[in-house]
Amino acid sequence: MKLLVTGGAGFIGSNFIRHILSRRGYQVVNFDLLTYAGNLRNLAGLGAGDDYHFIRGDIASRQQVAGALDPGIDAIVHFAAESHVDRSILDASAFVRTNVLGTQNLLEAARRNGVSRFIHVSTDEVYGSLPGGGEFTEDSPLAPNSPYAASKAAADLLARAYHRTYGLGVVTTRCGNNYGPYQFPEKLIPLMVSNALDDEPLPLYGDGLYTRDWIHVLDHCRALEAILLKGREGAVYNIGAHGERTNLEVARRILGILGKSEDLISFVADRPAHDRRYAVDSSRLRLELGWSPRISFEEGLDETVRWYRDHPQWVDGVRSGDYRHYYRMVYGNRDRTLSSL
Ligand code: NAD
Ligand code: TYD
Repeated sequence: MKLLVTGGAGFIGSNFIRHILSRRGYQVVNFDLLTYAGNLRNLAGLGAGDDYHFIRGDIASRQQVAGALDPGIDAIVHFAAESHVDRSILDASAFVRTNVLGTQNLLEAARRNGVSRFIHVSTDEVYGSLPGGGEFTEDSPLAPNSPYAASKAAADLLARAYHRTYGLGVVTTRCGNNYGPYQFPEKLIPLMVSNALDDEPLPLYGDGLYTRDWIHVLDHCRALEAILLKGREGAVYNIGAHGERTNLEVARRILGILGKSEDLISFVADRPAHDRRYAVDSSRLRLELGWSPRISFEEGLDETVRWYRDHPQWVDGVRSGDYRHYYRMVYGNRDRTLSSL
């Protein structure tokens, strides 16, 4: 099966490409713009001999997408996105361009080129916040709170409409928070690990009692493979591993694994419209496709923390001048930055 993978140089996309190429019978064209989040070092070691080919391009460009969609493509697995909530709060325009217009451009190209399958990779954040008990099901209303989540919800609705209107073979997935190797250290876990390794403060927003439903990226990739092969066209599948933890628990555990003091934890000004809690019901995926997660949060976090500790060159490479500029924008004078929004 020949796949066009968008955003394959990012965190989940690169893990997916490595995973899928370790199985038999796949060829991958990786189409990625290489924004600040895209990094070809995430795919080091892969070459043409591995049934792998890279094209640098923008999903929002009709011409560039047309150039990548050769007639042999059987399916598109669409990861490319602006993916970080804090960046979307600073400036939402790139999120609308890539996540909304880019997705529509890709859906249109798929339809015109007769691509039979389109896996649209989305997020549980489109459902908004679940402050009490319960879990999001695929029928929960869409109630996004950040510009990032709103742009993903818009893309989900376009994907739905392309299925309903044109019969495009779209399947949409909504996964909880991923962690694992190759994640850009703007997200909670790699940011906390890399700061702890440098004995820098671990900034927890608000009271630190916000919860996320964590899943190891390889469990997500295995779910996507099952959905690619057997998911029902037009359906939405939630993906989750019952990995609910507060941010404070996560920070403490990272410090414990590294043998560092909890004094490094620093409570900082909260994120605006910060969703209190996410929790994902993935029984549709489990019952219909027989998927279940294999990696417990404790085991996966241990292995992930060790991965960042053992790959200092990768970490230094992504924490470049641009990253330091971003870090100062979001964390330096945090109270003042937020009040000026
Ligand atoms: P990421 O930010 O690590 O990677 C995004 C990739 O998309 C990068 O390689 C970047 O260069 C590429 N890209 C950005 N704009 C592009 C454009 N205009 N054209 C082509 N490529 C472009 O993101 P991630 O964490 O790997 O997330 C991948 C997908 O999974 C996203 O759609 C995200 O919404 C979704 N998702 C992420 C999580 C999570 O916890 N990280 C959870 C659920 C769903
Ligand atoms: P994040 O990794 O940005 O993912 P998302 O907001 O998309 O779920 O954040 C995960 C949680 O961690 C969220 O509740 C915000 C919180 N957080 C902090 O407390 N401090 C930080 O420096 C970051 C990046 C996140």
